[in-house]
Amino acid sequence: MSSQNKNPGKVSVRTLREKKEQGEKLACLTAYDAAFAAVLDRADIDVVLVGDSLGMVVQGLETTVPVTMDEIIYHSRMVARGLKHAMLMVDMPFMSYATPEEATANAGRLMKEAGAEILKLEWGAAQLETVQRLTRCGIPVCAHLGLQPQSVFKLGGYRVQGRDKETADAMLNDARLLEAAGADVLLLECVPSGLARRITQQVKVPVIGIGAGVDCDGQILVLYDILDIAPGKRTRFSKNFMADAGSIAGAVEHFRDTVREGTFPGPEHSFD
Ligand code: KIV
Repeated sequence: MSSQNKNPGKVSVRTLREKKEQGEKLACLTAYDAAFAAVLDRADIDVVLVGDSLGMVVQGLETTVPVTMDEIIYHSRMVARGLKHAMLMVDMPFMSYATPEEATANAGRLMKEAGAEILKLEWGAAQLETVQRLTRCGIPVCAHLGLQPQSVFKLGGYRVQGRDKETADAMLNDARLLEAAGADVLLLECVPSGLARRITQQVKVPVIGIGAGVDCDGQILVLYDILDIAPGKRTRFSKNFMADAGSIAGAVEHFRDTVREGTFPGPEHSFD
C-alpha cells in the first residue's frame, strides 16, 4: 500500500489545527444532502456538519430531541457523497451517547456506515470518559459547549450560557478538561464573546463558534439560515447571506469570505 495521501486536499483535524496556529479562520456550515454538500465543497468550506438541526430545518420538528441514529446516518451518507475536500462532521443524536458503551457502539456506526470523519457530542461531565474512549479508538471528537439544544427541556429554553462568573469559569475549565481528554475541536454555541475569546486563547485545539463572537478560530451556521429558508424566526447569531448574493453558491462564498476576513459575526450577531 502506498504511504502517500490519496487526497492531499482533504481537510483533517490536523489541517484545522494548522489553520488555528497560522491564524486562518475556519468557515463551516451544515448540510443534509449531497447537492448542497457539493455546493459547500466547491466553495472551499472547511467543515460540513450533518447537524441534528436537521430535525428542525428539514423535518419540521420543534426540537432536535427526536432525531434518531438511523436518520443521521441516512443524511450523512448523502452528504458524504457530495464532499471531496471538506471534513464531514456528524452529530451524535440525543441519547446515542448516554453511556460510554452506547457512545462507542454508536460512534462506530457513524464512522463505518455514515462516512463521518469527526463526531460532535454535546458536552456534559458524564462525557469525559466517552471522549477519552473515542480518542483511544482513533475517533476524532468535537465537544459542543455552551447552549446545548439536546438539553432544551432541562434548560427551559434556548439561552446564552456562561454569562456569570461561576458558569463562565466552569466552561473554561471544561474546555481545558476536554482538551486534555483528547477532544480535537470545541464548538461554542451562544456564549458571550469575551468568554469565547478566553477559551479560544487558552486551548490549542480549534474553537468553532455559533453566536460566540468573532474571536473564535472559526464560525459555523445552519445552511438554511444563511439561505433564509429555515422555518421560524431567524436567530440573532445567524445572517441572511442570500439577500445580496443572487445565488446559493454566491451566498456560501460570501459567508466564507466574511468569516475568513473576520468581518462576520459582527457585534449585532454576538452576545456580551
Ligand atoms: O445541529 C446543528 O446544526 C448544530 C449547529 C447549530 C452547530 O449543532
